[in-house]
Amino acid sequence: MAIRNIRTEEDNILRKKSREVTKFDKRLYQLIDDMKETMYAAPGVGLAGVQVGALKKVAVIDIGDNLIEVINGKVIKKEGTQVEVEGCLSIPDVYGKVERPEKVTVSYLDRDGIHKEISAEGLLAVALCHEIDHFDGILFRDKVIEYIDLENVEEEQENQQL
Ligand code: NI
Repeated sequence: MAIRNIRTEEDNILRKKSREVTKFDKRLYQLIDDMKETMYAAPGVGLAGVQVGALKKVAVIDIGDNLIEVINGKVIKKEGTQVEVEGCLSIPDVYGKVERPEKVTVSYLDRDGIHKEISAEGLLAVALCHEIDHFDGILFRDKVIEYIDLENVEEEQENQQL
């Protein structure tokens, strides 16, 4: 495994759309494993392929209880709204309030290409939506309702960049 460079906002690749994964091979496993290591080292709670320069619909998420590898993920159901402070590993030191669904169901493939669904709420729902936005070249900045000054960001939030 290796830590990869996290691309930041100045890099236009973050605005490009990622492609669906069709090959479940060693190269994909290498990418996912590197992404995991990169996310934990940052530290962050989510990372999408494009953030390490791979335009593939791959994301890793771990909000503290377990790791999920989300391939070709899409939101198939959403319910309610929540407004939470978000940060992104590709936009260091910027935090803002974003409105997201309170509950989502996401359909995705695991690393073996097996179809899965996950229903999530709270931070996990935020993380899933944030990473799936990365697949479409959307950054949380596009959806910020209100920026939060860094000194007013709680430590917990600082460690929850996506
Ligand atoms: Ni992000």
